[in-house]
Amino acid sequence: MSEPAPQPAPSGGPRLVHTPDELRAALARAGRTALVPTMGALHEGHRSLMRLAREQADTVVVSVFVNPLQFGPNEDFDRYPRTLETDIVACAEEGVDVVFAPTVNTMYPTEQMVTVRAGSMGERFEGAFRPGFFDGVLTVVGKLLHLVGPDVAVFGRKDAQQLAVVRRMVADLNMPVEIIGAPTLRDPDGLATASRNVYLSAEERVSALFLSRALEAGRRVAADGPDAVRAAAGAVLEEAAEATPPVEVDYLALVDPDTFADVTSGHRGEAVLAVAARVGRTRLIDNVSVDL
Ligand code: PAF
Repeated sequence: MSEPAPQPAPSGGPRLVHTPDELRAALARAGRTALVPTMGALHEGHRSLMRLAREQADTVVVSVFVNPLQFGPNEDFDRYPRTLETDIVACAEEGVDVVFAPTVNTMYPTEQMVTVRAGSMGERFEGAFRPGFFDGVLTVVGKLLHLVGPDVAVFGRKDAQQLAVVRRMVADLNMPVEIIGAPTLRDPDGLATASRNVYLSAEERVSALFLSRALEAGRRVAADGPDAVRAAAGAVLEEAAEATPPVEVDYLALVDPDTFADVTSGHRGEAVLAVAARVGRTRLIDNVSVDL
C-alpha cells in the first residue's frame, strides 16, 4: 500500500501525520503528552477519552489505525468502518493536537517477527474466543507508545480485559507511561457505545440491550456475593437467548479487575462483571464494575 500524501491540517484543527518522521516533527516541542489509541470510527465514547486526555496533558495525540494483527482470519478487518475524514472533524471538535494515521505498511513494513505476548491473562475470555487478539493489541500499543512517547495513555474501561493486559505490559516491561481507564459511555437506552454498534439492525439493537440489562441485574445484588451476581446476570441472559434475534452468549464472567482471574464465591471487594455475545453477525462486549 502506498503512503497517502501528507495533508495540511485544517485551520484550527489537529495536525494530521502519517509517518513516524512526521509524528516526531509534530511532537518536537510538545509538553506533557497524552495518547488516545483508536482504530477510528470515532464515536461519543472516544470523545470522552479525548476529553479525559485533554485534562491530563498539554498535547493530545489520537492514533487512528485499524491494526491487522488483532483480527482473526474470520473477523471483520476488511469491513471494519474506516472514516478518517469524520474522525478528524471529531478530533478537531475535541481540541486534539495531532492525529497519527499510519498505513499498514508504515506500521508493519516487514513481517512483524518480534511481538508482545499477553501470556495467560490474554488467553482467557476475549483471548479464548479471539486467539492472538491480545498479542496483536499489545504489539501495536507497544509500538504506538514508543512512537509517541506519551506521559499518559487513555483506554476505555469498556474493554476491561484490554485495559488490564495493557497495564500489565506497561508494568512488566517498565514502560514509562501512566495508563488511565476512562468510564464506559452508554447511549440513553443503556447500550455501551462501540464502533461495531453501526452494524446492528434496529431489531438486533433491541436484543443487544439484554447485555447491559444482565450486567445491571448482577450489580444490583452485589451485596449478596459473587454467586448471586453470576446467577442474576445469567438469568437475564437465558431470557436473551430466546429473544428475536437471539443473543448468543460467548461468556459471562465475574473477575478480578487486575488479573482477570475468576473470583471465588467468598470474594469481597471490587470485581468486573463482563459479558460477550453475538447478535446477528455482530459481536458485542460490555462490563460493569461490581463492589462485592
Ligand atoms: O481498543 C482499540 O480500539 C484497539 O484495540 C487499540 C487499543 C486502538 C489497539 O489497536
